[in-house]
Amino acid sequence: MDERAAETIFKAENVKKKYRRLQLSSGQWKTNYALDGINMEIRRGDIYGLVGGNGAGKTTLMRILAGLAAPTEGTIELFGESDPKKLHIQRRRINGIIETPALNPALTAWENLEVCRLQQGLADDGRVEEALSLAGLAPRDIEGVKVRNFSLGMKQRLGIAKALLGRPELLFFDEPLNGLDPEGIWDFGALIGRLKESGVTVLISSHLLRELSLLATCYGFVCKGKMTGQITARKLEEKGGDLEAYYLSQVQKSSGGMD
Ligand SMILES: Nc1ncnc2c1ncn2[C@@H]1O[C@H](COP(=O)(O)OP(=O)(O)OP(=O)(O)O)[C@@H](O)[C@H]1O
Ligand SMILES: [Mg+2]
Repeated sequence: MDERAAETIFKAENVKKKYRRLQLSSGQWKTNYALDGINMEIRRGDIYGLVGGNGAGKTTLMRILAGLAAPTEGTIELFGESDPKKLHIQRRRINGIIETPALNPALTAWENLEVCRLQQGLADDGRVEEALSLAGLAPRDIEGVKVRNFSLGMKQRLGIAKALLGRPELLFFDEPLNGLDPEGIWDFGALIGRLKESGVTVLISSHLLRELSLLATCYGFVCKGKMTGQITARKLEEKGGDLEAYYLSQVQKSSGGMD
């Protein structure tokens, strides 16, 4: 990933996350490493595709980035800050959606964002309208409509608008394409394109490799809590450009298969 000269925004070094789970049948505790020594680096301007199968640890990693979970071991660095007591200050510069966006169903889209703007102490400078428009929610479709009456895709878009409200430098989206129709996927791609042009850095996890390969500028592959490799889209292109084949070779590598 050396060709990327830009500033490092997020770095994980040997990050582990251990969970203890009660086995109801035996009554014993079982420990499980959701993350087992993750090393990764996101640089300014990256559209970073996080690829991995079910249970690989993608959501856990995003939760640690967002400050919703603490690593059991290892360190994370955000905008050059690695002191765990000071990370929350840098987290004001990031935002995103992990799994499903938290929205108030009894309010309209505009009201949801306005409440959020007031809670975060953000300026009343047209950013609510800007975020709604960037996320592709047209006033004629949402005016006076409570969020409980929104379709899944509309809720997803409103979640994106909510994440954009604070004009973050780094956005993270956990499986943002789930539940979107082809038009929604296309619109999400267009949004990522606009964010890329304005220099925003984005971390996206997805199982939809074909769609991801149209957006990402680099990839990280997670398998059973370990980062098996990182590669830029350009290097992948030099290797034939087939993301699915490359991903499968990473899975094989992690299970001790031939390289
Ligand atoms: N709160 C928790 N308590 C116990 N185990 C957990 C917890 N959260 C996650 N795990 C375990 O950690 C592992 C990684 O889970 P995670 O949700 O990060 O995977 P994922 O890559 O996001 O998977 P998916 O693609 O299915 O969303 C799984 O084995 C999961 O069961
Ligand atoms: Mg997940």
